[in-house]
Amino acid sequence: ALITLRQLLDHAAEYSYGVPAFNINNMEQGLAIMEAARAVDAPVIMQASRGARSYANDIMLAKMIEALAAIYPEIPLCMHQDHGNSEATCMTAIRHGFTSVMMDGSLKADAKTPADYDYNVEITERVSRMAHWVGASVEGELGILGSLETGEAEAEDGHGATGKLDHSQLLTDPDQAVDFVARTKVDALAIACGTSHGAYKFSRKPDGDILAMNIIEEIHQKLPNTHLVMHGSSSVPQELQDIINEYGGEMPQTFGVPVEEIVRGIRHGVRKVNIDTDCRMAMTGQFRKIATTTPAEFDPRKFLKPAMDAMRDLCRNRFEAFGTAGQA
Ligand code: G3H
Ligand code: 13P
Ligand code: NA
Ligand code: ZN
Repeated sequence: ALITLRQLLDHAAEYSYGVPAFNINNMEQGLAIMEAARAVDAPVIMQASRGARSYANDIMLAKMIEALAAIYPEIPLCMHQDHGNSEATCMTAIRHGFTSVMMDGSLKADAKTPADYDYNVEITERVSRMAHWVGASVEGELGILGSLETGEAEAEDGHGATGKLDHSQLLTDPDQAVDFVARTKVDALAIACGTSHGAYKFSRKPDGDILAMNIIEEIHQKLPNTHLVMHGSSSVPQELQDIINEYGGEMPQTFGVPVEEIVRGIRHGVRKVNIDTDCRMAMTGQFRKIATTTPAEFDPRKFLKPAMDAMRDLCRNRFEAFGTAGQA
């Protein structure tokens, strides 16, 4: 059944677990997530970016969510707009059956330029008021995601650097977070705590304190009823890099956020964990493998089925690691 983000994360907070939020663009990704959820009895957050909505078409996505809810009636399912950039994006998502929206006012509507605080408060407050009228949940974002290593901020797609930022802009200020939540009344707050979008997060094996755990902890203490969201939470597993590169890929060596670091975050109030890159890599590894090992193959299903299975296994692993398994 469809539920809101608020309903799901209230339950997650009560029982101290985290929920991965997987991005979807197509039927295969939707089925992979739901199969994993069914296998381990986990509630689901599926999210679609603006790019996903223009790729798949809003009506296609709306009917797909309806179909997945009907095929997997026992799984609580939250459908969320990832990185909404305007009131219109958020409202049209709700109109198409999304039960939750992210208004990302940390960046201007171009999704690249860092926005000032007043802009962020004003637009997020407006979306929050409208979404709550119709029973949808809202995620806001305070702080700009980017690489702590290079000081480069990133656009939502993990490309398009927006320029150099200083260390403090890349980490959410806890006192400002208190003010932001009071004024916007968001249900969930995405924080900047040292992660960035995409595959290229860290150039060295991250050791110990790659997440600003003290900031996560402090925000959680000051805002115990606000659910914290970690973006850029792909782990970029070495084995997925290896499969891609073994079958003709050319991904430079890179490091993501280790699963055990995310689990530490969950112990300090992180409830929603955004993962897209890992799912993309799980699928692409299989596309490359099939293309290379059976070059005569031309039936798309022969590519898509192993890709779906690999994504399903990845999702299942995260449900188990984050404590989502058994909570449906
Ligand atoms: O935050 C970005 C998500 O990974 C979605 O990426 O805009 O390429 O669909 P996308
Ligand atoms: P990754 O690129 O680390 O998977 O992050 C996805 C994300 O934050 C979507 O909003
Ligand atoms: Na989001
Ligand atoms: Zn994100």
